Amino acid sequence: MVVEVLAIVVLLISANGAESRKAKFGNHFEYSAISCRAHGASLTDFGGVGDGTTSNTKAFKTAIDHLSQFSSFGGSELFVPPGKWLTGSFNLTSHFTLYLHKNAVLLASQDENEWPLIDPLPSYGRGRDTEGGRFSSLIFGTNLTDVVITGDNGTIDGQGEVWWQKFHKGELNYTRPYLIEIMFSDRVQISNLTLMNSPSWNVHPVYSSNVIVQSLTILAPVTSPNTDGINPDSCTNTRIEDCYIVSGDDCVAVKSGWDEYGIAFGMPTKQLVIRRLTCISPFSAVIALGSEMSGGIQDVRAEDIVAIDSESGVRIKTAIGRGGFVKDIYVRGMTMKTMKWAFWMTGNYGSHADNNFDPNALPVIQNINYRDMVAENVTMAARLEGIPGDPFTGICISNVTIELAKNAKKVPWNCTDIAGISSAATPKPCHLLPDQGPEKIAACDFPEDKPPIDDVEVQSCSFRRKYI
Ligand SMILES: *[C@@H]1O[C@H](CO)[C@@H](O)[C@H](O)[C@H]1NC(C)=O
Ligand SMILES: *[C@@H]1O[C@H](CO)[C@@H](O)[C@H](O)[C@H]1NC(C)=O
Ligand SMILES: *[C@@H]1O[C@H](CO)[C@@H](O)[C@H](O)[C@H]1NC(C)=O
Ligand SMILES: *[C@@H]1O[C@H](CO)[C@@H](O)[C@H](O)[C@H]1NC(C)=O
Ligand SMILES: *[C@@H]1O[C@H](CO)[C@@H](O)[C@H](O)[C@H]1NC(C)=O
Ligand SMILES: *[C@@H]1O[C@H](CO)[C@@H](O)[C@H](O)[C@H]1NC(C)=O
Ligand SMILES: *[C@@H]1O[C@H](CO)[C@@H](O)[C@H](O)[C@H]1NC(C)=O
Ligand SMILES: *[C@@H]1O[C@H](CO)[C@@H](O)[C@H](O)[C@H]1NC(C)=O
Repeated sequence: MVVEVLAIVVLLISANGAESRKAKFGNHFEYSAISCRAHGASLTDFGGVGDGTTSNTKAFKTAIDHLSQFSSFGGSELFVPPGKWLTGSFNLTSHFTLYLHKNAVLLASQDENEWPLIDPLPSYGRGRDTEGGRFSSLIFGTNLTDVVITGDNGTIDGQGEVWWQKFHKGELNYTRPYLIEIMFSDRVQISNLTLMNSPSWNVHPVYSSNVIVQSLTILAPVTSPNTDGINPDSCTNTRIEDCYIVSGDDCVAVKSGWDEYGIAFGMPTKQLVIRRLTCISPFSAVIALGSEMSGGIQDVRAEDIVAIDSESGVRIKTAIGRGGFVKDIYVRGMTMKTMKWAFWMTGNYGSHADNNFDPNALPVIQNINYRDMVAENVTMAARLEGIPGDPFTGICISNVTIELAKNAKKVPWNCTDIAGISSAATPKPCHLLPDQGPEKIAACDFPEDKPPIDDVEVQSCSFRRKYI
């Protein structure tokens, strides 16, 4: 600990003075990551100024452009020292680690000129806020291999207020930026950071594989628009664990594209693990599946979830025209306190990309398992609404005890166009989920085999400032 602090102090002093040359070798600290790097530098080596008012957009670009030459030579890491580092959007490179010191704060610029425009996501056809383009995320990466964004709980502050105002006033000409978006990439780690006040979604891995999201604290006012926590979108092999999220939208929203664009792109989210998540989301879900699910969502395993003061625990959102599927969903070990609905499924979510959706594209919702849960102070146990002529099937709810609130609805379960079973669930579920009896308390599945993402190992790395 003392050595670590000393190393950072030496590094800081060296960054500014004549000591710099002498200190280039030998500074180090430890952290854990999917890959360690051979080359390291500090943002201050590239003209970074951490005074909270100087723009560091160019410093980040210069640093990462420079470090990208080491991609094939052991990779590189960029250290962001204590300070307030104002910056616009910047791009990452492969075999690269961005490391934020615990007293480093990245402050997102509020100047739109600091945010390049990029194309809409192909699986969405348009931006989420407006038609056409969107602002690039604060930290953006595309077509990368092996990229790590971490720290010892350093902060990324999106300063989202101005964006939320523009959203509410209808003044956005393009879709708001996210804090972190990694696209078309393999081997991604985002860990040990605090993210706050994102203009919109916080963490958006999309069209990517082997993604680890770990130990994030995500904070945004509960009234801020669309500040989703973590949105795995058309990703394979993802693990989200040990996160604490308080936000204005879903804590985790699993997605895979929108209507005809998502169907055409056809890239599902599958093999997703969510564990040890604590969520407060008074107006949205702890875990949402959809509403954009047109590429399909399959094999989601969620466990050890704590939900407080949230609208719903698990929510499936879809609509006619979405196509796609949500199947093989397993959730167990969830504790909920003060909820509007423990379980919610919506087949008429609407919200279409445009009017060209195919009314015959019906989503398939199948094999949904919820078990081993307790909830208290719940207004309504479940609202499960399938699509007429396209019922949601294979729903299983077992060993679930829901204690209703004083002002609870008279009918605790409201089910339409669904089919499934229940056992050891209280209050007594609707007749569309017939009770199999208390001996079937373990009726609902949860796969016991190890998910492939658990094979990705994390190593102990040591930072070395050595960039020439
Ligand atoms: C990151 O967080 C995890 C879990 O809280 C912890 O075990 C690990 O030591 C942290 N790593 C660093 C580098 O701070
Ligand atoms: C990041 O990369 C994207 C895609 O290659 C590009 O459109 C964008 O302008 C880049 N952003 C910056 C800040 O250079
Ligand atoms: C990134 O990968 C996607 C999918 O493989 C490809 O369509 C796209 O052209 C690539 N973009 C760049 C900038 O290489
Ligand atoms: C990280 O910082 C946030 C915000 O200050 C704090 O709430 C959280 O407990 C910290 N996490 C760790 C692991 O220290
Ligand atoms: C947005 O577009 C309108 C015209 O549609 C224009 O008047 C306004 O200046 C634009 N705002 C920005 C920030 O570019
Ligand atoms: C129960 O939930 C209501 C909101 O529905 C809330 O106002 C009340 O404080 C909660 N009670 C407890 C004991 O948590
Ligand atoms: C029922 O769920 C509780 C958690 O709510 C768990 O501790 C218990 O082991 C479960 N019982 C069975 C038989 O699985
Ligand atoms: C039950 O849900 C249906 C829609 O699925 C709704 O029309 C109906 O009003 C609800 N009934 C109650 C008692 O909440």
